[in-house]
Amino acid sequence: MPAHVAIIMDGNGRWAQHRGLERQAGHREGARRVRDIAAACIDYGVRVLTIYAFSTENWDRPADEVSFLMDLIPERLEAERSMIFEQRVRIRVLGEIETLPLIDRVAVRDIVRQTAHHDALDLNIAFNYGGRAEIVRALRNLIRDGIRPEDVTEDLVSRAMYTAGQPDPDLLIRTGGDQRSSNFLVWQSTYSEYFFSPILWPDFTRDAFEDALADFSSRTRRFGRVPVAAPAAASDA
Ligand code: FPP
Repeated sequence: MPAHVAIIMDGNGRWAQHRGLERQAGHREGARRVRDIAAACIDYGVRVLTIYAFSTENWDRPADEVSFLMDLIPERLEAERSMIFEQRVRIRVLGEIETLPLIDRVAVRDIVRQTAHHDALDLNIAFNYGGRAEIVRALRNLIRDGIRPEDVTEDLVSRAMYTAGQPDPDLLIRTGGDQRSSNFLVWQSTYSEYFFSPILWPDFTRDAFEDALADFSSRTRRFGRVPVAAPAAASDA
């Protein structure tokens, strides 16, 4: 079972358009799937779930869609509050929250603080997130802390990322048919197993998630090494 699953939830707009609806309807339905997949993670013992809710590039979308997403995220956090507390989900936000609208800053700060002691599942919400920007931020923080160049290690950089203390994603799922990583978890996904699904995110149910987990369990992870051959059976001779 993967300890950390990360998901690029793509296909909300197309899901809505196929039904003759506004793109926003796709985001609204997609946000509901987060709850289902988080519940499945708890059932299967996945410790960390990271979802790509809003990228730094998403600001270039039409203004009404951006403001809809800005309202949707605090709205869903409020709607799922009882699930988050009953199931002991710890919310963490990956991204630049200082530049978000006040309603989002307040909502995410509150829920992060109130759930800091929860221990069933870490739900990382990548919100105003960019993978390269995260690396730049980490390096700036190390320089600001006066770390000498010769003391910079991979471990130190990992600890300067938003995901400090969490395992890197074992499984990275992208729904919606495209096969690219879109500036998501650039540092952390070096050895992630990718699972690309043609299913549009609002249709990505628990069954589809279980298929991704089953696919993951069939893979051999080598981390750049040569697989170790099973020892030959001892001969009786
Ligand atoms: C990509 O689909 C999806 C997004 C940019 C937004 C995803 C955000 C949510 C589902 C809300 C998350 C909510 C919580 C609970 C924090 P797209 O619009 O690019 O789809 P398309 O490729 O079909 O146009």
